[in-house]
Amino acid sequence: MDRAEALRALEEERERGVAALAGAADLESLEAARTAVMGRKSRFGELQRSLGSMAEEDRRSVGAVANEVREVLQAAAAERLSALRAVAEEALLAADHLDLSLPGHRPRRGSLHPITLAEYEIVDIFTSLGFRVAEGPEIEDDWHNFQALNIPPDHPARTMKDSLYVDVPGHPELLLRTETSAVQIRTMQSQPPPVYVVAPGRVYRRETPDPTHSPVFHQVEGLAVDEGITFGDMKGVLETVAKALFGEERRVRLGPAYFPFVEPGAELGVSCFACDGAGCRICGDGWIELLGCGMVHPTVLENCGYDSERYTGFAFGIGSDRVALLRYGIPDIRMLFDGDVRFLSQWGATP
Ligand code: DAH
Repeated sequence: MDRAEALRALEEERERGVAALAGAADLESLEAARTAVMGRKSRFGELQRSLGSMAEEDRRSVGAVANEVREVLQAAAAERLSALRAVAEEALLAADHLDLSLPGHRPRRGSLHPITLAEYEIVDIFTSLGFRVAEGPEIEDDWHNFQALNIPPDHPARTMKDSLYVDVPGHPELLLRTETSAVQIRTMQSQPPPVYVVAPGRVYRRETPDPTHSPVFHQVEGLAVDEGITFGDMKGVLETVAKALFGEERRVRLGPAYFPFVEPGAELGVSCFACDGAGCRICGDGWIELLGCGMVHPTVLENCGYDSERYTGFAFGIGSDRVALLRYGIPDIRMLFDGDVRFLSQWGATP
């Protein structure tokens, strides 16, 4: 091959090679093009080898051109390589795309149950008066739920009609507490007087559900025992509570009622917040019976080891569900237990 031929061939290889490398569609075909254009068996490779058989002078000038062509081809390969890498990276980024500007999935915020809200309201009023919160178990024994509360064995509250017994082998005395009053007993057993406690909690009775009855419901029990506590103290405290719950304008009335664990026992009525005593759909005769109460029976104090000559006290029990229905205008107690989020979420308060 003479000089002119070699130079022409190199020129062809430059053009062909640059076109082949620049046209490679992906990394794999670029590698194939590189081998075809510059590999040992390529025409360019052959041309380089043929330099050896050229005259010294030709070899120098053709060799310089061959070097130049190699540099051009290498540069073309490098350029294509970075272009293809950029494309590949962009494809990867596109596939891996994470749009941080999209709003996330907000966790749904729960809201307090209307019964909880009512309980909190009631308990807040009492704690502001100096009462503390006490608790007791929902599964009670016969002694705490009945005997200690001066409920004799033949009292109707003890029959299967009203109570739900728990089937624990060897423990026929266990039942779901029928009233939070049992917490009075547990509290007095656990501490000496004075006692000022409220005990919110769930209670159970054998009831057929209807708009005003549920086999599961809630009460806030209260107990104050100290030296010199009178019926007047009870009335003052409960009047304060009734007004705090239903408005300063409310009036209260006490009527006689029987509860085995108090003597005398009473029922506290509050003038209706809707009609102010005139009588309406909510109250009937203008009064809402809010709670049962009374002076703690001396037998109950003695059952807990308290000296009934020295200490007196009052107790009361408020139905928290009923307060929730009245305060929030809920027409049916069963709605409180259905667990329908569409209903429950209307009480927007969050913890
Ligand atoms: N335990 C009664 C009930 O479930 C309510 C009650 C009445 C509680 C009078 C008391 C009380 O502490 O003194 O109907």
